[in-house]
Amino acid sequence: VTLRLAVVGLGLMGGSLGLAARERAAAEVSGYDPDPAARAAALERGCVSIAHDDLVAAVAGADLVCVCAPIAELSAAISASLAAAPQATVTDIGSTKNAVVASVAGPDRARFVGGHPICGREVRGAQHAVPDLFVGATWFLTPVADTDTRRYRDLHAFVASLGAEPIAIDPGAHDRLLALTSHLPHVIANLLVNQAGAGRIDGHDPLAASGGSFRDMTRVAGANPRIWVDIFLDNREALAAAIREHRRLSDDVLAALENGDAGFLARWIAQAGGHRRRALEAAYERRPEEMVQIDAHVPDKPGVISGITQALGAARINIEDFELHHFTPERGGTISIVVAGLAASEETVSILESQGYSAIATPLAGEAAP
Ligand SMILES: NC(=O)c1ccc[n+]([C@@H]2O[C@H](COP(=O)([O-])OP(=O)(O)OC[C@H]3O[C@@H](n4cnc5c(N)ncnc54)[C@H](O)[C@@H]3O)[C@@H](O)[C@H]2O)c1
Repeated sequence: VTLRLAVVGLGLMGGSLGLAARERAAAEVSGYDPDPAARAAALERGCVSIAHDDLVAAVAGADLVCVCAPIAELSAAISASLAAAPQATVTDIGSTKNAVVASVAGPDRARFVGGHPICGREVRGAQHAVPDLFVGATWFLTPVADTDTRRYRDLHAFVASLGAEPIAIDPGAHDRLLALTSHLPHVIANLLVNQAGAGRIDGHDPLAASGGSFRDMTRVAGANPRIWVDIFLDNREALAAAIREHRRLSDDVLAALENGDAGFLARWIAQAGGHRRRALEAAYERRPEEMVQIDAHVPDKPGVISGITQALGAARINIEDFELHHFTPERGGTISIVVAGLAASEETVSILESQGYSAIATPLAGEAAP
């Protein structure tokens, strides 16, 4: 039987969900968005087969309703969907879960399961929707004691059919986890950039003089305030707790500096090295000590990157990761290639050298922790 999916909110996420459900789950997809331009974009891109200007019409007869509206609109759109589609399972994809799950009361709690796919883009709108957005992504689902088991099982299977990995989690635990792994890093990125951007040091602009570590630490600074203000406020309790803990841990480092406590600093850095190794293990599904990063300076010229990737492909070297840094027409930039294993890294260096670039290989996990 064909799954009838209704998508409420046809932006980047809702549009991508519609595309993915049509292509990967052969679903029949209807949609609702209050914005005519969003409806037109979703139809144009094939995210939905029909786009309504009325939520009630869009969700009528649906088996599954997925609410993909902005955070501030979620609770109202979820309760409207539950009322307008009394047989349907209703889910959402909002970035915070506690408030949304708590907003559903009574017998409807059996039909609502909160969700949050850990993927996305910085762009907005269904014109940027892609069907593969969810492939390989963790997709948190937040069933509670009242959740109907069959509905949860079906939703779990649907999410998996889109290529995502469904993981069940308590809504409060979800928000504490995301506060630590996503929202606190966003806060700190903004803090770092604002601190460095606030003034000059002896006439020098710290931002202009910053290097790779600053850039890596601040990639998400200044990210879309329309989304992030809502996320920070919606998850303010868990985020505030994470910031307080961060302040306490910063105070330990401050005390070690004031006391000249080299032992503390060394243990503390080694501990971070160990944690980072585990993070890399999870990211690459390989032993991190096998992973080697090769950096090379290359000119800003057409064909440079393809020349390198094609040579590596011909040598059957698998590129685990690839990044470009700091490209300017005059100075070129640096490429970073991550490969697995000593043999592959030596061959990569020699291929780069044969093309006239000087390359430096560094083990990704750094030195083993003492
Ligand atoms: N963008 C990401 O990276 C990402 C990742 C995970 C989760 N999310 C969540 O997805 C949701 C949507 O984000 P997006 O990136 O697709 O934003 P978007 O701006 O691309 O799309 C939001 C759409 O919702 C529509 N909308 C506004 N009010 C509505 C209402 N009352 N009912 C129905 N639709 C309404 C807007 O017209 C717009 O088309 C947010 O709740 C966000 O927390 C986003």
